[in-house]
Amino acid sequence: MEGAEGVGISGESGNGLTETRGHIRSFVLRQGRVSSAQQRYHEAMMDKIGVPYVVGQVDLDAVFGRAAPKILEIGFGMGETSAAIAAAHPENDYLGVEVHTPGVGSLCKLVAETGIPNQRIVQHDAVEVLRDMIAPDALSGAHIFFPDPWPKKRHHKRRLIQPPLIALLAGRLKPGGYLHCATDWEEYARQILEVLSGEPWLENTAPDFAPRPDYRPLTKFEQRGLRLGHGVWDLVFRKTRVARATASGK
Ligand SMILES: C[S@@+](CC[C@H](N)C(=O)[O-])C[C@H]1O[C@@H](n2cnc3c(N)ncnc32)[C@H](O)[C@@H]1O
Repeated sequence: MEGAEGVGISGESGNGLTETRGHIRSFVLRQGRVSSAQQRYHEAMMDKIGVPYVVGQVDLDAVFGRAAPKILEIGFGMGETSAAIAAAHPENDYLGVEVHTPGVGSLCKLVAETGIPNQRIVQHDAVEVLRDMIAPDALSGAHIFFPDPWPKKRHHKRRLIQPPLIALLAGRLKPGGYLHCATDWEEYARQILEVLSGEPWLENTAPDFAPRPDYRPLTKFEQRGLRLGHGVWDLVFRKTRVARATASGK
């Protein structure tokens, strides 16, 4: 299966952005090269740790075979960070969502090699996974690390972190659950801060940007960026028990 292909009715809108079932996709599926190892592990592992996309809420305790806090990750890329976090936190269950086959194959390989029992994968558009599969108040946390910044202004509509997605995600978090985003793109970091601060069910755990939580390992790419003097911005918000008043008056 090639990620989100075939998710539904899609078409190019006048501005060249692909719309699928009413939302603009935050990704473009390129026919990237899938290595033979990625292909092999994808085939061998997705039967075991893959969760097929369905329209209908899934029982996450049944998916993982136990009751434990559930953390969703959107866009895990090649999955190195996901596997490292899942290995370091056996007390939690991690549901990674990614559309890109090489990345899914890569995380499958890491799971097979390390034997971590608490990682599952959905290969599909995370917007639809959240909307269709995840029950309200089901998640103890959500990670969105280095979402595509879509730097050109005409592509900003493709950015994943927009008010409707964050409202949807806030509804899927338990009260007290957290949303952790990180980006190395300063202008996107400010936009994320604005979007998260405008969501009445979320409150910031820091005055604005947060120190990097210990559980998020530095990636190689990030280490290189930091050596070159580039910044990284972490944002950690929590779901409130009662919606707060926001500047937008929502
Ligand atoms: C820039 S990469 C970052 C990958 C990884 N989080 C990291 O820190 O290295 C963004 C990833 O998000 C995935 N992605 C973007 N939009 C997505 C969506 N709506 N659903 C699932 N994955 C998505 C892309 O395929 C890509 O792998």
